[in-house]
Amino acid sequence: MKFFIDTADVAEIKKLVPTGLIDGVTTNPSLIAQSGRKIADVIKEICDIVEGPVSAEVVSTDFETMLKEGKYLAGLAENVTVKVPLTVDGLKVCKILSDEGTMVNVTLCFSAAQALLAAKAGAAFISPFVGRLDDIGQDGMELIADMVELYSNYTYGTEILVASVRGPNHVVAAAKLGADVATLPPKVLWQMYQHPLTDKGLDAFLKDWAKTGQSIL
Ligand code: E4P
Repeated sequence: MKFFIDTADVAEIKKLVPTGLIDGVTTNPSLIAQSGRKIADVIKEICDIVEGPVSAEVVSTDFETMLKEGKYLAGLAENVTVKVPLTVDGLKVCKILSDEGTMVNVTLCFSAAQALLAAKAGAAFISPFVGRLDDIGQDGMELIADMVELYSNYTYGTEILVASVRGPNHVVAAAKLGADVATLPPKVLWQMYQHPLTDKGLDAFLKDWAKTGQSIL
């Protein structure tokens, strides 16, 4: 499973890249707003730090302006993935940009039917929002299971990018189902390292080691 980081906070990304576990970054208009920076500046900076796909989202809703925005964002760096909403115009833009060789991430996916449309439109990534489905009393992971099953019947080449991830349990459940990518808020990746028995075990090993008076180097 690939791990993307769901943030526009460059300082957080710089802390995470040295883990060697980061395969890409996703942003959205809310995350760009939180950064307080211009979208072009922040996307270019992230693309310099991370080699993998970096999603930058359009903000217009009509076909023509969305296409212009998509082309502008794609021109910012080679690894920009243009993110479009799962709407009629969004999927029209997805088809055109994908046919031109630009990677597109179709976002705000909440049903298997929508996921099928995005794959047919040539999306490189489809982003189902599991946390937001859980929030309204539905089961986000059920959608991931449906999508994995549905995509396995064909050879679309669209990767399932699990989004709106709220904790390590979401990541594990999505990995069990075989989802291609999870995009994680930085906090969730740091949480994945944690286990109290790891801390306790390490503490005991180091105390015993200190009694030996040895050093390895
Ligand atoms: C990622 O592409 C999405 O924009 C993001 O995961 C949404 O997460 P949220 O539901 O926590 O805002």
